[in-house]
Amino acid sequence: MTLFPTYQRNDLRPVHGEGAWLWDEAGKKYLDFTSGLGVCNLGHVHPRVKEAVKEQLDRLWHVSNLFQIPLQEEVSERLAQASGLPFTFFCNSGAEANEAALKLARRYGRERKGLAKPEVVTFQSSFHGRTLATLTATGQIKVKEGFAPLPEGFRRLPYNDVSALEAGLTDTTAAVLLELIQGEGGVHPADPPFLRRLEELCREREILLMVDEVQTGMGRTGSLFAFQEAGIQPDVITLAKGLGNGIPVGAMLGRSGLEAHFGPGSHGSTFGGNPVAMAAAKAVLREWMETDLPVRVKETARHLAVLLHERVAGLPFVREVRGQGWMWGVELDRPVAPLLSLLQEQGVLALVAGPRVLRLLPPLVTGVAEVELAVTRMEEAWLLLEEVGGDESVSRV
Ligand SMILES: Cc1ncc(COP(=O)(O)O)c(C=O)c1O
Repeated sequence: MTLFPTYQRNDLRPVHGEGAWLWDEAGKKYLDFTSGLGVCNLGHVHPRVKEAVKEQLDRLWHVSNLFQIPLQEEVSERLAQASGLPFTFFCNSGAEANEAALKLARRYGRERKGLAKPEVVTFQSSFHGRTLATLTATGQIKVKEGFAPLPEGFRRLPYNDVSALEAGLTDTTAAVLLELIQGEGGVHPADPPFLRRLEELCREREILLMVDEVQTGMGRTGSLFAFQEAGIQPDVITLAKGLGNGIPVGAMLGRSGLEAHFGPGSHGSTFGGNPVAMAAAKAVLREWMETDLPVRVKETARHLAVLLHERVAGLPFVREVRGQGWMWGVELDRPVAPLLSLLQEQGVLALVAGPRVLRLLPPLVTGVAEVELAVTRMEEAWLLLEEVGGDESVSRV
């Protein structure tokens, strides 16, 4: 073993992928309801993205950000058109996109609000990444253990608590960073009244409203961005995962006026906005903007929602089914690990979000027949779970 053992890995060794399917070394096929952790939203080895990347590989792989990179402008123009946020900073991952947002928030707090120690408010159970600043922003103790001393300037509030919000946003708050559905934290959606009040307070007090769309973005919740479903207008959003459909790329998008706080020398990334990553992101956005994908994504997602409520919500041990679009959590009254293992045996790959929540992040291109097959396989796995009574020793995941 020569890898740092940072991941608790499953024994499965996928060797081939196509659409919503993965194949292992023995040729067994699986419906991949993980999308590589919410990344391959358009399915594995998407033909249009593949062709765009291949073409770019023949032309130019990398130049530094000291030169003009027209593909970055094309992608940022498309992102601006889709989001209403005209400025983009490109990076390589979700943590880096959030890191950029946190740095921008501090510059904004100092330069616009005159704060000596600008503070960023985040929420309990949130997840924003694994760098020192983003794990500090994250509202989960497990990601912080052993990493002190952590950076200052963060305040965490309970999620969906309007009174705590009203009391917790102070004169030193520069920005609020939140997920509109907490993914890693258990698939918990933000309440609409909480979001409305948050937006109102941010506007009144000139606090930046920053939405972490790393997991919810790129169609995961049914629209291209979750903020569009929620009916709010953020000042900043962060993206990664689905933006390159498997080619690493991240982005921070911001409203007009914020470019003044992120001038030359303020931030950078050697690989950020690399031409190959940009070719992938452009192909992904063309799929969203030039095909009937948005319609199909919504239609099949509605079918998935109906099946989950009709056929999964009533299964034994299920406490609640919650989520939106292609992002679902099934909360059990017991540990979920044995179920995950049984599901895998039935040919469906899923995730956890905490010890008792089964998380489903299928590719958004999963067809109706595949959605139905996955739900049938789930019912079968539940039958087996009933037989073992949730015995944790069954878990091989
Ligand atoms: C909401 C959210 N933000 C940030 C991240 C971190 O992204 P990355 O692993 O690409 O750094 C994740 C990853 O799961 C996430 O779900």
